Amino acid sequence: MQALEALQPDLIVHAAAQPSHDLAASRPFDDFDVNANGTLNMLEATRLHVPESVFVHLSTNKVYGDAPNELPLTELETRWEYARPEDYNGIREDMRIDQSKHSVFGASKVAADVVVQEYGRYFGLKTACLRGGCLTGPHHSGVELHGFLSYLIKVNVSGGHYRIFGYKGKQVRDNIHSHDVAAFIECFYNKPRVAEVYNLGGGRGNSVSILEAFAKAEALSGKKMSYEYVDKNREGDHICYISDLSKMKAHYPEWDITKDIDTVFTEIHDAWQERLHQTV
Ligand SMILES: NC(=O)c1ccc[n+]([C@@H]2O[C@H](COP(=O)([O-])OP(=O)(O)OC[C@H]3O[C@@H](n4cnc5c(N)ncnc54)[C@H](O)[C@@H]3O)[C@@H](O)[C@H]2O)c1
Repeated sequence: MQALEALQPDLIVHAAAQPSHDLAASRPFDDFDVNANGTLNMLEATRLHVPESVFVHLSTNKVYGDAPNELPLTELETRWEYARPEDYNGIREDMRIDQSKHSVFGASKVAADVVVQEYGRYFGLKTACLRGGCLTGPHHSGVELHGFLSYLIKVNVSGGHYRIFGYKGKQVRDNIHSHDVAAFIECFYNKPRVAEVYNLGGGRGNSVSILEAFAKAEALSGKKMSYEYVDKNREGDHICYISDLSKMKAHYPEWDITKDIDTVFTEIHDAWQERLHQTV
């Protein structure tokens, strides 16, 4: 509260969170405290001290729970694919957020997402919820349960061993570079709206399955991927998740993805080469 009162920021990007599904399950009160109450603290401080400030909240596509898995899919050689033409561009913001399995983490993030919207609709704050998918970049420090692409490339570069959890390794994610995330936040800041939600990802062009990611990593490093298949998917894990970027582009036509999937791979690969080399 005092910090916002003293600083009087024009823009608040709320990215603090407890991001672990597993930790949330073992410490649900802590998880809710950080993700839901922490967000409420930030909103209330904004309302009381800087109500003209733009408030951007890093939400997550986990607010949809496993509802995206209800879309009909077809199995291709290296990936799952949406079966219906109307789903081709991916998940829109009107996907329902309730009556699906979220994990305890996902539930606390739903609470945060809804309360951010409410401080827009009810109090008139200039808020946006960015429902992120796989946000990444060369400085991402991926670990097995978080930061899929960063971790996968690290394992390949370092000669480690990767475990695929279910869905035949054909599960699809769209990946967005942190540069394009920041660029979108700047667009929203320049022309803010009230109580908006956006699905923030790399879109279809930046989508990749685990098997396809192996091939890209191998091509960059020249090293074969060492992996095993665990025939059990992670609880509630999305099978094919691609963010439909239509709403972002309609509201902010000056914004677009500038870092395509190959650039994202190359930057992460080079960064790991450098980081791992430095620690040797
Ligand atoms: N990285 C992704 O792919 C991704 C995807 C979807 C959504 N998000 C969202 O983006 C945001 C940032 O995620 P990240 O991947 O950078 O995670 P992260 O764990 O790297 O960052 C979270 C930050 O929150 C801080 N934090 C935690 N508890 C705090 C507290 N009580 N008070 C103040 N700060 C606290 C941590 O110190 C950390 O710096 C989160 O809201 C996350 O849900 C990230």
